[in-house]
Amino acid sequence: METFGCQMNERDSEIMAQLLGEHSYLQTDKPDKADVVVVNTCSIRGKAAHKAYSCFGRYKKLKAKNPRLILAVTGCVAQQDGASLLERMPYIDIVMGPQAIYALPSLVAAARREKKPQVATDLSVDFIIPPFLPSLADGAPHKRFITIMQGCDNFCTYCVVPYTRGREISRSFTDIMAEATQLVNQGIQELTLIGQNVNSYGKGRDGRQSKSFPELLRSVAAIDGLQRLRFTTSHPKDLSEELMRCFIEIPSLCPHFHLPVQSGSNIILQRMNRKYTIETYLDKVARLRKYRPDIALTTDIIIGFPGETDDDFAATMQVLDKVRYHGAYSFKYSDRPNAKAADFPDKVTEEIKSERLARLQVRQNEISLALKQVEIGKTVEVMVEGASKAPDNQWSGRTGANQIVNFACAAKLTPGQLFVVKIVDACQNSLRGQMI
Ligand code: 5AD
Ligand code: SF4
Repeated sequence: METFGCQMNERDSEIMAQLLGEHSYLQTDKPDKADVVVVNTCSIRGKAAHKAYSCFGRYKKLKAKNPRLILAVTGCVAQQDGASLLERMPYIDIVMGPQAIYALPSLVAAARREKKPQVATDLSVDFIIPPFLPSLADGAPHKRFITIMQGCDNFCTYCVVPYTRGREISRSFTDIMAEATQLVNQGIQELTLIGQNVNSYGKGRDGRQSKSFPELLRSVAAIDGLQRLRFTTSHPKDLSEELMRCFIEIPSLCPHFHLPVQSGSNIILQRMNRKYTIETYLDKVARLRKYRPDIALTTDIIIGFPGETDDDFAATMQVLDKVRYHGAYSFKYSDRPNAKAADFPDKVTEEIKSERLARLQVRQNEISLALKQVEIGKTVEVMVEGASKAPDNQWSGRTGANQIVNFACAAKLTPGQLFVVKIVDACQNSLRGQMI
């Protein structure tokens, strides 16, 4: 399995690995030993899609050595390009979209039996995420993702997701609860509920969904034994007061919120079809912090959207200082197939995009570091993730606010263990702690 892109893809890869496992396949980390290679692709930005294409080339060589090898391409590039991928890369055996992952074992069998490529890229508006119970064999031993919805109905003008993952569909409440309960009963300590826009859970096409996202959060949090609950990702327009209240009402809900702002300029936000102004965004941030002053905020920002002027960019820079995010993922705008902005005039040059991106990242790094430095001297609860890359009995864990903390401990620790640690130093990407 080779996986690119977001958590949705990571979770889809786990599901596919489990399904193949149920058909007697074992995972290997050596591609030349594999009978089936699955490449789960991302096409959110131009760069991501190019990464996928160059990776197919590597597997072409492998197929020349092992003609029995089945090469399956899934994820957003597969959905986007469909059968046309086969014209350019006839050595691919299976092209399947994200809605077809549950059919992977039968597609592999069909590709072997029929000795011809299989294509499964229909995006049905009637698609229902099937009931699925996880196995504990693969993945991190203490934390898991649970897909609660997929697709998106927002049509931000830069975004390819509505075309690659289809219309927004919420998963059945009963199926989510069954999966969450099984995971917690088997010892998983931390769950992250994932979807393109989790805040609108239950509002999808499926009228049987009667639960809202805050109701779902409360129900999952009530499962006995769950230590930490997280979710991602959220659209600011759907961030309700009820969801904000969850941060004081649900003790296991971690104080971290990823709230993509994309731009600080109202003109650009409107052209992006984001459906909020920067004033309403900042107001929501302020109200969220009223409920939970210690909440860590992270964001996504697009630099150089078509028509972005110096003033528009300055407005985005101001947002960094107004919000003071713990972290920001920033990207140069790139045209995506079908996305409306691809046809917008006034494209920003690569040179200007690079220059603005560099400036934004310098300022954000200063803020991220400053926010880490204020942690020095505090005691925080850390959940162990595993051995740190540094030598000398170093372990690595995460705070509720999702900050990485490295600390020394001579004993062998288990991922998922909780410790109280005193923060003694701050680096750009992590904190250093001392066990208490
Ligand atoms: N160009 C640049 N960045 C994009 N993103 C989505 N589409 C594009 C695009 N065409 C960014 C947004 C989104 C994140 C996942 O990727 O910031 O929140
Ligand atoms: Fe893309 Fe906008 Fe949907 Fe997010 S909300 S997936 S950016 S269309």
